Amino acid sequence: MSQNDLMDKLVSLAKRRGYIFQSSEIYGGTGSVWDYGPLGVELKRNVKDLWWTTMVHQRDDVEGLDASILMHPRVWEASGHVDSFTDPLIECSNCHRRFRADLPEVEGGQCPVCGTRDAFGEPRQFNLMFKTFMGPVEEEASVVYLRPETAQGSYVNFLNVQQSARKKVPFGIAQIGKAFRNEITPGNFIFRTREFEQMELQFFVEPGTEDEWFEHWKAARMEWHVSLGIRPEKMRFVEHGPDELAHYAKKAVDIEYEFPFGWKEFEGVHSRTDYDLSRHQEFSGKRLEYIDPASNQRFIPYVVETAVGVDRTVLVALIDGYREEQVEGVQRVVLGLNPKLAPIKVAVFPLVKKDGLPEIATKLHQELRRKAIPSFYDVAGSIGRRYRRQDEAGTPWCVTVDGQSAEDGSVTIRDRDTLEQVRVSLEGVSPWILERLSAPE
Ligand code: GAP
Repeated sequence: MSQNDLMDKLVSLAKRRGYIFQSSEIYGGTGSVWDYGPLGVELKRNVKDLWWTTMVHQRDDVEGLDASILMHPRVWEASGHVDSFTDPLIECSNCHRRFRADLPEVEGGQCPVCGTRDAFGEPRQFNLMFKTFMGPVEEEASVVYLRPETAQGSYVNFLNVQQSARKKVPFGIAQIGKAFRNEITPGNFIFRTREFEQMELQFFVEPGTEDEWFEHWKAARMEWHVSLGIRPEKMRFVEHGPDELAHYAKKAVDIEYEFPFGWKEFEGVHSRTDYDLSRHQEFSGKRLEYIDPASNQRFIPYVVETAVGVDRTVLVALIDGYREEQVEGVQRVVLGLNPKLAPIKVAVFPLVKKDGLPEIATKLHQELRRKAIPSFYDVAGSIGRRYRRQDEAGTPWCVTVDGQSAEDGSVTIRDRDTLEQVRVSLEGVSPWILERLSAPE
């Protein structure tokens, strides 16, 4: 299977199984934004919940925040986004299509759409922020932006969080939320879109300690991806060279995944100095210093940031889990998602639609749901077809209620990956599943 084939197959599976649909598909779609279907929304929630658990609930030194998408426009002047959140844009004078000037095809001098050579005009800087108006008057004074990152909401709330939660530096602010970027060339499915979600941590530290915190977070973030079951050999760190660093950064490392379209970033860890808080202090005229209670020293904390896309993590999980294999001469497609990520944890099937088996299966299905285990009941089609559907959906376990179940109250649980089947009592099914869901990696 070629790498292009893999993306095509994944996009088609995502639609077929209800993971991801093209936005506004009945109107022809937009190509730059996507909708998450019944299984996609569950996968996305699982990614976000696991991040939140690791970054907020399991730490004493991180607090959560949910800042608004629309902010005071001065925020984006202070952050540097109004001046420098740009990509170089180039236009073909023949077909008038616009491209990022730094795309390899474009750098070669040939238009990727009409094929004309040397027809590009001069590149210009294109700001990626979406603009809109706050209030009922559409004038320059009421322009606001859709946030292109969640980070700024954490900076402007630094003192609110620090004081209300009585935090001492070092501590962090975590956020999950939508961000918007008017990307010149969105593409590769949900990899680069114009509306997406981020999971970002801003960790405030005493100046001089940022290097050790940078190393801490770099390791912690890689560990988290490994805990989701992503193959370690498909991930790597790539450190930014001095001329690639953003204007605010002292150090930056990307966590890259080997996508079918090449090694690409899906998370960044950045050592941002005191740039962010100093700029907001300067532009707002409000002091954003921290006073160390032990030494009474005042300082503006340095920031170490971890920033990962929800959608890109979903894409990594889907690609990493996708496989095709032959089982006893029959081809099957498996979405080998880690059980913690899987939208449906267990599917329950009565072997046949008679002999009281549907009643036993329905009762088990309802019991699983009562215990908050996402369960799916399926009675349609041969047992083999039902297994295949769940393999494609990424469901780790299928429970079959058969003739023996009616006699001795036992069922089989089939493992998606090993295909092994074990017999467990009806009462034993939910503890069996819960034990495996809570097992550490
Ligand atoms: N606050 C720092 C920041 O936003 P970034 O590297 O620009 O850093 C962080 O973005 C992450 O957000 C990326 O690693 C990626 O996973 C995700 N992301 C950025 N732009 C995206 C886009 N257009 N579509 C989908 N995800 C995107």
